[in-house]
Amino acid sequence: MFGRVEAFAGDPILSLNDSFKSDPRSEKVNLSIGVYTDEKGRIPVLGSVKAAYERIGFAERPYLPMEGHPGYREGVQKLIFGDTHPARETKRIATIQTIGGTGAVGIAADFLAKHCPGRTVLVSDPTWENHHGLFQRAGFKTTTYPYWDRSTKSVDFDGMVKALEAADSGSIVILQPVCHNPTGVDLDDKQQVAVTDVLVAKRHIVVFDMAYQGFGTSLEADAAFVRRYAERASCLVANSFSKNFSLYGERCGGLSIVCQDSDEAERVLGQLKLAVRRSYSSPPMLGGLLVATVLGNDDLRAQWTREVDEMRTRMDSVRKLLAEHIRALSNEVDVGFLLNQRGMFSFTGLTEQQVTAMRERDGVYLVGSGRMCVAGLNEENVPKVAKSFVEVS
Ligand code: LMR
Repeated sequence: MFGRVEAFAGDPILSLNDSFKSDPRSEKVNLSIGVYTDEKGRIPVLGSVKAAYERIGFAERPYLPMEGHPGYREGVQKLIFGDTHPARETKRIATIQTIGGTGAVGIAADFLAKHCPGRTVLVSDPTWENHHGLFQRAGFKTTTYPYWDRSTKSVDFDGMVKALEAADSGSIVILQPVCHNPTGVDLDDKQQVAVTDVLVAKRHIVVFDMAYQGFGTSLEADAAFVRRYAERASCLVANSFSKNFSLYGERCGGLSIVCQDSDEAERVLGQLKLAVRRSYSSPPMLGGLLVATVLGNDDLRAQWTREVDEMRTRMDSVRKLLAEHIRALSNEVDVGFLLNQRGMFSFTGLTEQQVTAMRERDGVYLVGSGRMCVAGLNEENVPKVAKSFVEVS
């Protein structure tokens, strides 16, 4: 019956992570999947989340509503838009709890396929591969706008603006507002304003995918692009708590749609509920309660903010450490990119063959595109990674 089913080619990130797990070498280093590990190589359990877990205990587990836990949804809105954003004050934002950031982008794609069908979808070149997959699954054709300038290892700003100007009016544009995956390079403030002007003038439908809030500059500063954009136009914002709450397996995310008025927002929320009902009915409880408890309590939220700051500071310091170790081994490798990029990822410029050599020979795992998850570096593995990097460069 299923004799013609094709074999799965594997996912460039998740399947590689599976290969890492089954690699028998004890000295292996995982710099592939976007997961933050601490100095000891462990995924941290944040103190704020642990305290929330103790408060929650185990009680009845009814279904959550289709749109998710009310405190969670309120927490998402405040975190992304701030307490006093005009769109919040005028009740123009429809927010749902989603199954991770992937679930948020998936529901956004389904929503747009139903209500804005037939549009062109533009994603950055390069991007998180699943952006293509999720929008294609929803029935769209995807194409790209230039983003990465290989020669300068920075944003190809002119190329990006030209492509957004040339696209059909009303195209769907996926933007990562902070800690771009996979390149680690972001638009600066002036560039954000200029891109916003183009997007608004062309009436493009913007989907912000914000999976790393707090890993760039701070929780507040990282939201600035989205907040300013939402003052000028409607948009969709997918967010994830996988990384900044260190709650990968709980699948906690959110989707917010900024609408023209409160009536529109209510109808949009209804359609999001329908999309959820047709897909998985309602989101899971535990992760929802953990996030809602932390975000809804001043002390826990302040503790969590400090913990996010600590993770970011550690990532910045291991970037520097790797650059120093590489420099000590070779003057020929330019390590400037490590220090200019931010967030969990660094785009090394290594080719697929070089990445394969690092993996096969040294057990150092990077994604085939040359993306390195710097959040997997620590004092112990940096010397090995630096040596492997210099040897293949
Ligand atoms: C990544 O890019 O490695 C993470 O966002 C994990 C994923 O789902 O791909």
